[in-house]
Amino acid sequence: MSSHNTVLIVDDTPENIGVLFECLAHQNFHILVAENGKNALDIAEHKHPDLILLDIMMPGIDGFETCRQLKSNTETQDIPVIFMTALSDTSNKIKGFQLGAVDYITKPFQQYEVLARIKTHLSLRQLQKQLEVQNEQLIQLNQDKNEFLGIAAHDIKNPLGAIQSAAEVIEIDYDTMSKTDLLKRATNISNATRQLFTLIDNLLDINAIESGKSKISLSMIDMLTVLEPLVMRYRLQAKKKNIVIQFQASETQYPAFVDENTLTQILDNLISNAVKYSPYDKQVDIRISLQDNKSIRCEIQDNGLGISALEQEKLFQKFSKLTPRPTGGEHSTGLGLFIVKKLVDAMKGKVWCESEEGEGTTFFVEFLGDAV
Ligand SMILES: Nc1ncnc2c1ncn2[C@@H]1O[C@H](COP(=O)(O)OP(=O)(O)OP(=O)(O)O)[C@@H](O)[C@H]1O
Ligand SMILES: [Mg+2]
Repeated sequence: MSSHNTVLIVDDTPENIGVLFECLAHQNFHILVAENGKNALDIAEHKHPDLILLDIMMPGIDGFETCRQLKSNTETQDIPVIFMTALSDTSNKIKGFQLGAVDYITKPFQQYEVLARIKTHLSLRQLQKQLEVQNEQLIQLNQDKNEFLGIAAHDIKNPLGAIQSAAEVIEIDYDTMSKTDLLKRATNISNATRQLFTLIDNLLDINAIESGKSKISLSMIDMLTVLEPLVMRYRLQAKKKNIVIQFQASETQYPAFVDENTLTQILDNLISNAVKYSPYDKQVDIRISLQDNKSIRCEIQDNGLGISALEQEKLFQKFSKLTPRPTGGEHSTGLGLFIVKKLVDAMKGKVWCESEEGEGTTFFVEFLGDAV
């Protein structure tokens, strides 16, 4: 039990207070005393004790009225109240419970019983507080999930609409359509389908990461074996926009502690962004290097629009489609970098970006190298 629990004793008889002090001695409680109801209400409101021991018969406001007022004030209503009564009078006990008390103790006090009841109610109160915090977190998580679902549903609607309208045109006009037109509609359908698959793959990735189901196992791998094939593949794609991809590596190998598939996914995302957000005829530079601290760093630098400082803060969030838009009609879900960040974290690596508006952007990703 926490050593900082504060117990407020409310009693007008100094003798009783003395006995209770003795009962609670050596328990590490912080003890507060009020000699009447009014004083008790004041202390409760300002000091927020964890528990109140409340005498029933007191001059002025009696224990019952004090309890009623404690329970009607939002500042004090959650503090557990234990009544103290000399009377073994059942009607008093019932009245106490009806007013919101959690328990009672009878005089003369039995030290161990008093202690046991106090400890029970303090730990119940502690659990209740934890539940309140967890409940708040659950409400927040549920809100996040709803928002996530809303955005995902919205992003699914556009490609679905495109598929539906292309299919409807074919349904109605198939007899009179030219082959070219038919091909155009089929291409619309397959593009929109690809878009949907990308979105769904991303959503499934996020789900796997967030539910702890993504399979990442780290081993020593030469990062060049992952990076080089990707560069080749993106060179072909970049050609369509007349973008040249330069690749620099001074060593023959770059062993790092990573998961091969995950690393591929990370670099794929970063290179695809560099090509996707670069204007035509620009250059993309990819560099891999060994750092002084023995980690392996990969840099992907483009000469695109750049990202403002304000937008850089949102870069690794879910569904963040920022000011730069794809320059060659590519598709964008706004999920790539969110996934990248999660995957890099899971591999104990680092990812960050340096960018200035109008100057292009460089993404850095770093993993633990072969330190031996
Ligand atoms: N190299 C870059 N240059 C300029 N803007 C970028 C660059 N990389 C990302 N962005 C901006 O950040 C946003 C988020 O990027 P992210 O990779 O998360 O999603 P996406 O590329 O839109 O979709 P996806 O990666 O799922 O295809 C992009 O929409 C774009 O506005
Ligand atoms: Mg992307």
